[in-house]
Amino acid sequence: MSNYHIKHLEEYYQVYRKSIREPESFWEEIAEEHFLWRKKWDKVLDWDFSKPEVKWFEGAKLNITENCIDRHLATRGDKTAIIFEPNNPDDEAEHISYRQLYERVNQFANVLKSKGVKKGDRVCIYVPMIPELAIATLACARIGAIHSVVFAGFSSKALSTRINDCDCKMVITADGSYRGAKTIDLKGIVDEALESCSGVENVLVAKRINSGISMKEGRDFWLQPLLDSASKEGNAEVMDAEDPLFILYTSGSTGKPKGMVHSSAGYMVYTAYTFKNVFQYKENDVYWCTADVGWITGHSYIIYGPLANGATTVMFEGVPSYPDFGRFWEIVEKYKVNQFYTAPTAIRALAKQGTKLVEKYDLSSLKVLGSVGEPINEEAWHWYNDNIGKKKSPIVDTWWQTETGGIMITPIPYVTPTKPTYATLPFIGIQPALMGENGNELKGNQVDGRLCIKFPWPSMARTIWGNHQRYKETYFSAFDNMYFTGDGAFRDEVGYYRITGRVDDVIIVSGHNLGTAPIEDAINEHPAVAESAIVGFPHDIKGSALYGYVTLKDAGESRNHENLSKEINQLIADRIGPIAKLDKIQFTEGLPKTRSGKIMRRILRKIAHNEMDNLGDISTLLNPEVVQSIIDNKL
Ligand code: PRX
Repeated sequence: MSNYHIKHLEEYYQVYRKSIREPESFWEEIAEEHFLWRKKWDKVLDWDFSKPEVKWFEGAKLNITENCIDRHLATRGDKTAIIFEPNNPDDEAEHISYRQLYERVNQFANVLKSKGVKKGDRVCIYVPMIPELAIATLACARIGAIHSVVFAGFSSKALSTRINDCDCKMVITADGSYRGAKTIDLKGIVDEALESCSGVENVLVAKRINSGISMKEGRDFWLQPLLDSASKEGNAEVMDAEDPLFILYTSGSTGKPKGMVHSSAGYMVYTAYTFKNVFQYKENDVYWCTADVGWITGHSYIIYGPLANGATTVMFEGVPSYPDFGRFWEIVEKYKVNQFYTAPTAIRALAKQGTKLVEKYDLSSLKVLGSVGEPINEEAWHWYNDNIGKKKSPIVDTWWQTETGGIMITPIPYVTPTKPTYATLPFIGIQPALMGENGNELKGNQVDGRLCIKFPWPSMARTIWGNHQRYKETYFSAFDNMYFTGDGAFRDEVGYYRITGRVDDVIIVSGHNLGTAPIEDAINEHPAVAESAIVGFPHDIKGSALYGYVTLKDAGESRNHENLSKEINQLIADRIGPIAKLDKIQFTEGLPKTRSGKIMRRILRKIAHNEMDNLGDISTLLNPEVVQSIIDNKL
């Protein structure tokens, strides 16, 4: 029997050791006993980080949707797979059983096929958090099309960049979306994006807000009539283990977004196994992750991980503040949620509201609380632990990334003793290393270094779409034979890990990864701007917020700074999306630069953090005099 479900600490250590000593036989057992294969693998693992190349379960044949849906039909056909909770609490929720999911995914898959989508084609999914989002995703997987879900809060420019990068031939969207009291014209955004996407042949449109949108003859189709006339049966395409399952874009510190490519078999095995253990999911539990499917958390832990375990997973369309800040707790009570998984930024926003709205609801069903996306500060951890978990539900602070596909460092609830702000121990099969600046591994405890992973794990991204060289340079070049995460971490006296944050130019705002370069590019498009630099600074709710230093082409020109700031933020919203707007914009007469002309972000970061006493030696700068004027005018 394999160790699919870990129940106590001794067992964790024993299974962990086995997974490190004999990774191949360990993962082989897990894969063999818990999944449905059309054909077993010839080889469990083949890898070479210097290329880099990683293959898991090579030679195996499968379809992930048969594992997430078909195989549950015999025993769980009537069990609820997805609970859809709409934005407006007065609207009716939907409970989709495994059988209904099977039928709806087949219908959708048949529609895709009828529109000419084939195995290997890329399909962009730009849909709000409605059931069609999950169903479209699974339908692509069913026919072997590669889905590229783009968060439906991105701008038309960000959308078109992503559509073109992987040559999507179809876009699936909705007429619009609800966000609290607001609506967003999604189809309008798609139309604008498609002006610069010549490869898109068809657009399928789900009806959500019933707005009077325009449809382009021959290109755009309403989804529902097509679904209504499609068959509820259909065979899943047989996929190779290493066939790409999806592309998901993440920001880098430079250049355009990186389309991380995830493959089928390894991703399935690892997300399912982590889901089972990190949430200690039991057969009749109701699990809720508040993320959007547009992010990796939604892919792995709203859709694939839960469904591969035959779980009941909640999809929530709305926001935590609508109609009031009690909404999350109302939903927990309504569905008797057992596992609740959210981000520190949401916890901080809710904590700010006090506990009155928490006390109104019965939260006694909760057994496990999760946190993801950014470091959770001590205050937020305690608020969550005391008021939501009532000190009896362990908090799993899960560290991972779009690139890792699944949870990497985390407590296992009721197994690993937790410690505030610590992600604690590596999950089974994960071999972290902390590296010093000189490329040496820092052994032992109580060390602070750059977080790397030494050995492949099944759900790691295999490449960046269309740019394997960039994949190699970004993740496998900083340290020999290691995957470099871009994060720093501290290992304490018992070997627990605490993630200290990014060590590159990526800033995590409200749990969203934002590269500084694309934001600076957007600002520099403004005709009055000469150059700009973005840094992060601590923010009560968002964790980090963005501080922009901007120099104008004609400093003497008396432009109204308030209007300019608005225009700059509008540009950022248009080019990237509202999430990347700056909280503070300081107009400066210059930016501190090295003699070779490189902007010294380190100094700007310190000023934004109010650490003026600790700027280090600035005498070697090209223009040391600008530093004082930046300090004097700090916002
Ligand atoms: O810096 C780490 C932070 O989020 C980054 C990954 O972001 P993304 O690819 O968008 O995936 C987020 C959801 C998995 C990491 O490099 N991060 C994520 N989880 C944590 C975290 N930082 C600290 N603690 C965490 N639990």
